[in-house]
Order: sequence, then C-alpha cells, then structure tokens
Amino acid sequence: MIKISPSLLAADIGNLTSEIKRIEYCADMLHIDVMDGHFVPNLSFGVPVVKAIKKITALTLDVHLMIDNPLKFIEVFANAGADIITIHIECPDDAEKCIDLIKTFGVRAGIALNPNTDPQRIAHLVNKVDMVLQMTVYPGFGGQSIEKCAIENIIKLRKIFGNDIDLEVDGGIYANNSLEIVRAGANVLVAGTAIFAQGNSAWAINELRNEARKGVLI
Ligand code: DX5
Ligand code: ZN
Repeated sequence: MIKISPSLLAADIGNLTSEIKRIEYCADMLHIDVMDGHFVPNLSFGVPVVKAIKKITALTLDVHLMIDNPLKFIEVFANAGADIITIHIECPDDAEKCIDLIKTFGVRAGIALNPNTDPQRIAHLVNKVDMVLQMTVYPGFGGQSIEKCAIENIIKLRKIFGNDIDLEVDGGIYANNSLEIVRAGANVLVAGTAIFAQGNSAWAINELRNEARKGVLI
C-alpha cells in the first residue's frame, strides 16, 4: 500500500498548525526530521515540537532521528508522542539496542541508511524493524536532488526484507520520479518540497499518490 508522509521541514514553520491542517486529511503520516548538528550539518525540530504537534493532529508521527546518540533520546521522543521512531545505522549507538528500546514504549521502529551505505549492513535487522528508510539524498537538508545510486539499494532492500515491510524513501521525491521509486520497491514516500512548497499541498499529495500507484501491480 502506498503511503505519503509529508516532511515538515519544508512547511511554513511560523504556521505549523495550518500547514498540518491542510495536509492531514489526505496524508498517511507526518514526517518530522530531528537533526543534532553532529550526525548531520544542520539543526531542526526537537522534543517540544513533537509534543506540540501531537496535540493538534491524529496523523501518525513518523519521527526521523538524524542524531549521533538516539539511545539517549528515544524515551523522550516516545513520551512526546512519536508513533514511529527511525534511527540511522551509521550512528555510533548499537542499532539493535535502539530498536529494542523503541519497542518497549510500544512505538514502531525504523532503520535508516544513507545512499552510500551497503544495504547488507542492515540485513541482520530483518524481523526486528517495522520500517526501513532508504535516504534518497544525503541527510541534513530539504530541496536536494535524488541520488540515483539509492534506487539500486531500494531494489536490494525489498529483496532482503520481503514484501510485508514498509520501505520508505526520503529526499528529492516528486511526482515525476515516484513511479520509478515505487517500481524499485518503495511504498512509503516522504516529500517536503514537493508538497509544502506547492500552493495546493493536498493536490500535490494526490498527484504523488496517483503517480506512485501506477507502479503497484496489485
Ligand atoms: C533530509 C530530510 C528530509 C527532507 C526531504 O535530510 O530527512 O525529510 O525534508 O525534503 P525534500 O522532499 O524537499 O527533498
Ligand atoms: Zn527525513
């Protein structure tokens, strides 16, 4: 099933409530990027923002931790209302420990990998994670162009993890490349610029979804 997770990074931060309201009836999740200035060269949202968003929407909160030490912060993000917490395999903390900890809070666990990371590095996490996040750009900033090498990784990840897992892609996703991405095996599309930079975000979501659905065989 195709799911669309608009990335809040591209929203008008001064008007978060109305930005969320204009997408919530047609989005499947809300993607919230957390950056620490170490794991990635940028800063973004933290725990208070997740907590505030939880109060204004029933959307599944898809929290993407681009931080060095997720073990220290999983509990606070879970308590703030995250429904899915995704950590990076490239961070120094032990991925299995992080995933186990995420699950103790009844939160779904995701594992992310950068475009230049070998998918085999996360193969041991089959049956442990609820979602795999293939970065289609190098993390840290919105508005970048997709890294073509990530498409090969999507194909490999779908083979490794099978058909039942959510395979999310994040970065440089637009209606005009979503079909290729879905054909490769992705089913959860994160899009920031393609959705929030449009005057009509709901229309942009529908366009993305319609293109992506052409790649689904059943
Ligand atoms: C990048 C973030 C993305 C970003 C995507 O590090 O993880 O979620 O917001 O933005 P677009 O869709 O503009 O490439
Ligand atoms: Zn993200």
